[in-house]
Amino acid sequence: MATTTAPTFPPAAGMDILFTKAQIADRVHALGQQISADYAGKDIVLIGVLKGAAIFLSDLARAITVDATFDFVAVSSYGRARVSSGAVKLIKDIDNPIENKNVILVEDILDTGLTLSYLRGLMLQHKPASLKIATCLDKPSRRLVPIEADYVGFSIPNQFVIGYGMDFAERYRNVDDIRLFPEDTPGH
Ligand code: PRP
Repeated sequence: MATTTAPTFPPAAGMDILFTKAQIADRVHALGQQISADYAGKDIVLIGVLKGAAIFLSDLARAITVDATFDFVAVSSYGRARVSSGAVKLIKDIDNPIENKNVILVEDILDTGLTLSYLRGLMLQHKPASLKIATCLDKPSRRLVPIEADYVGFSIPNQFVIGYGMDFAERYRNVDDIRLFPEDTPGH
C-alpha cells in the first residue's frame, strides 16, 4: 500500500546558496534597465503570476523607470511540475483591460513552460499592443512546450530551488537568496 510522507522543512540557512541576495539584486537591476530602454517613452503593464512571482515583480518594478501598472493572475497549482496533460486552470484573471497595452508577464520560474504557454495564449486574446515575458529563473532543459522568455534573470539546470518567492510546500518564499533544496528531504 502506498504511504505518504509528511513534508519536513529543513532550515534554509543550511541549504547551499545558488544566487546571493546581492547577485539577484544586480541581475534584477540590469533587467530593469534593459526593460526601461526597450520601452522608453511607453507605459507598461506588469502582470505577475501568483504566488511565486510576487517578490521578483516587486523588485523588478522598482528597477524599471518607465511608467508601470500592476496586475496579477493565479493559476491552479500542481506543484512545481505541471501535469503532462498540460491542464492549467485560471483561478484569478486580470482586473483591468490590457487591449492596446504593452504587457510583460512576470514569473519566478519558467520550467515546463505549460503555465506561461497557457497564460500567453489567454493574454493574447485580449489584444495587447505587445506581450513579453520576464522570468527570474529559466530551466530550459525541462521544457515540454516551446516557449522562451524575453527577459531572463538566470538560466539554471534542473535543480529544485527555494527562496526569492519560490516555495517548497508553501514555505521558504521569504528567504532572500535562492538556495538549493536538498533532494533527500522527506516529502520532496
Ligand atoms: C511555479 C512557478 C510557475 C510555474 C512554472 O508555480 O511559479 O508559475 O510553476 O512551471 P511550468 O513552467 O512547469 O508551468 P507553482 O505551481 O509552484 O505555484 P506558485 O507560483 O504559487 O509557487
